[in-house]
Amino acid sequence: MEYKVAVIKGDCIGPEIVNEAMKIMDKVAEKFGHTFRYEQLLLGGASIDAYGVPLTEETLEKAKKSDGILMGSIGGDTTTSPWYKLPADKRPEAGLLAIRKGLGLFANMRPAVLYEELKGACPLKDSIIGDGFDFVVMRELTGGLYFGERKTVVEDGVLTAYDSLTYNENEIRRIAVKGFETAMKRRKKVTSVDKANVLDSSRLWRKVVEEVAKDYPEVTLEHMLVDNCAMQLVKDPTQFDVVLTENMFGDILSDEASMVTGSIGMLSSASLGEGKLGLYEPSHGSAPDIAGQNKANPIATILSAAMMLRYSFDLDKEADAIEAAVKEVLKQGYRTVDIMSEGHTLVGTKEMGDAIAACI
Ligand code: IPM
Ligand code: MG
Repeated sequence: MEYKVAVIKGDCIGPEIVNEAMKIMDKVAEKFGHTFRYEQLLLGGASIDAYGVPLTEETLEKAKKSDGILMGSIGGDTTTSPWYKLPADKRPEAGLLAIRKGLGLFANMRPAVLYEELKGACPLKDSIIGDGFDFVVMRELTGGLYFGERKTVVEDGVLTAYDSLTYNENEIRRIAVKGFETAMKRRKKVTSVDKANVLDSSRLWRKVVEEVAKDYPEVTLEHMLVDNCAMQLVKDPTQFDVVLTENMFGDILSDEASMVTGSIGMLSSASLGEGKLGLYEPSHGSAPDIAGQNKANPIATILSAAMMLRYSFDLDKEADAIEAAVKEVLKQGYRTVDIMSEGHTLVGTKEMGDAIAACI
């Protein structure tokens, strides 16, 4: 089969890690007889440098017409990069938010998996880790505080800022359905996270999630307040299967979830909508401090490419092959600097990509 892949290499380490993911996709194409036609698009800082804005209409249209979007990372050093002298709506991150919204990618899936081979990197005690953990944060991505009305005004001579948190029942229902559907393919448990003891939007969230749960009698639903969830993630991460939550809580909890695995350089993510189109990117940021040094771990991006094959192209066998190859190189002892420990072989970005390609 032939697939049109929009490639957004992005900023800082973005190009290096995406190049390795494309290397793996090419190997898969050769091995399984597919063709991936890449079209490179600019977003974030790279788009600001080329066109003066973080996302152009043309880029959005091209992304819409693709079968899947593979992305590296966008943004730079917020204290030194000239991009951050621009007004907020012209900065790199604004491009990312706009492409999520423009493509209707309301569901962000971020798996948090403890790799057996990397147990040593996990900051939690063995007694907490047990046999390991494997859960996914299902974050609402196009609503809530990120997209509510905001303004900064002077009121009675006092500078005052507003950000509004709004959700309607339809926005909640569609992400809840994604959460339950995902749970059905996993261990059939949904932990819905909210702040229903304070916020109206959370009380509506809880009500709608309970309605959706009725369609999934096999799935166990529990509700958890967000502050408690932040604690439970470090106290007992093995209790989670699917963590379903709104945009801002999901932003924070997904970073915490990735940190407890100890290897954020390994974690992929998928942003999905109603159709097959998705945007796939590593869970980590653009790491300006190590950009261009062949140090970044390309595995999160490679695993994101695997998610694209699975969710947007229905190529399960091919996705399995990539995931197995990643496990194999870890077993062989190859490590980038972020996951390096004694007795293993330190490699750079490119060499890690080569090693994985060799295992496909
Ligand atoms: C993420 C990032 C973005 C977000 C930023 C870069 C706008 O932190 O994807 O989690 O907050 O959604
Ligand atoms: Mg974040």
